[in-house]
Amino acid sequence: MESMTVTIEKIVSGGYGFVRLSEEKVVFVPFSLPGEELEIALFDQKKNYAFGKILEIKKPSPQRIASLCPLFGTCGGCQFQMTDYPTQLIHKKFIIEESVRRIAKLDVPVNDPIPADNPFFYRNKGSFQVFGTQELGYCKPGTTVPFAIESCPIMEEAINAKIADFLQDPSERAKLAGMKALVIRSNNLGETINSTIKRDFFMEETAGLQFRVDVDTFFQVNRSIIPKWLEYIKTLILKHDNVGQGLLDLYSGVGTISQYLAPHFEQVVGIEVNKTLVDNGNKVPQINKIDNARFIVADASRFFDYGLKYDTVIINPPRKGISRGMVKTLSEAKPEVIIYSSCNPDTFSRDIRHLSESGYNIDEIQPFDMFPQTQHSEVVGVLYLK
Ligand SMILES: C[S@@+](CC[C@H](N)C(=O)[O-])C[C@H]1O[C@@H](n2cnc3c(N)ncnc32)[C@H](O)[C@@H]1O
Repeated sequence: MESMTVTIEKIVSGGYGFVRLSEEKVVFVPFSLPGEELEIALFDQKKNYAFGKILEIKKPSPQRIASLCPLFGTCGGCQFQMTDYPTQLIHKKFIIEESVRRIAKLDVPVNDPIPADNPFFYRNKGSFQVFGTQELGYCKPGTTVPFAIESCPIMEEAINAKIADFLQDPSERAKLAGMKALVIRSNNLGETINSTIKRDFFMEETAGLQFRVDVDTFFQVNRSIIPKWLEYIKTLILKHDNVGQGLLDLYSGVGTISQYLAPHFEQVVGIEVNKTLVDNGNKVPQINKIDNARFIVADASRFFDYGLKYDTVIINPPRKGISRGMVKTLSEAKPEVIIYSSCNPDTFSRDIRHLSESGYNIDEIQPFDMFPQTQHSEVVGVLYLK
């Protein structure tokens, strides 16, 4: 393997340290920090880029710290444990600014990220490989080769306690026989459910609302930041005068966003493709004392078929973002306000560019650090009709 000494210039999308070797070639170095002088070995070489494995840290960054997890670097789950939490937020903001500048090509300010309450032990859902004699683990980055874990410092304590049960209690371990993967989920009461019991569910409380959550369907993974995220979205919407009639929540999941906003609208409709999420969404409005919200199983891009009038649309799609067809439908529907919340700043930037070309303005972008220690961020932008 070719090796060389480099100095890291900046952190880029994916959480990689970035070095430009020449006009034609750049290198991405995982687990590195700006200003660090490193001996690296190049791997996965392509014409215009390669990746670099750190062989020796010749000059460490003053922001480099010892990672909490002994498997950091072996495991692909976290990218930023080599630095303190405030520094992680600085790099996340920079990555988002670069996306907006490079992909959206818009001059929109990115605010400082809203931090998580807990930079560790925050995830309420873990997905683990089951292998060997019912070991639990993760896969090495970019491979299907599992390695064993006994706990994970980004999982809530209740999930780590349940992992210990599976590993130490023979009757629990026996339940893993024949399984290839295990999902464990925890709620605000510290209860857990796991995928050894099919279709198991529990109630989860956040932002003063109850949600019915299944073991293996979507729910936001960082409970403590949800109230701040929802309150920010609410404030953005209520700043606009012509809203309050209809709210359409596209990619609605169990209706986390729309149930929080329902008291401010006459009617609320969520559209979600997963039937289990829709069923769960429709079971709780009564518990939350909401009588104007309903959830429909459908592809989000078919929202016109429901013929309702909406002044406000929320979009919170999966990582791939929204299609050009969805942009076109939105630009024909012309809601006053579109709130776009995304866990992928790159597809978010692409989509806000298309929406801004279709008649919408955007004033600011607010990141929320829902995923500490990792390169991921949630970003929120409000688009309003020009
Ligand atoms: C990031 S989650 C957001 C869920 C919800 N807004 C929340 O906060 O819990 C994205 C959701 O989009 C749903 N989804 C994916 N493709 C879809 C489509 N084409 N139409 C409707 N929903 C879709 C997924 O099932 C998932 O629940």
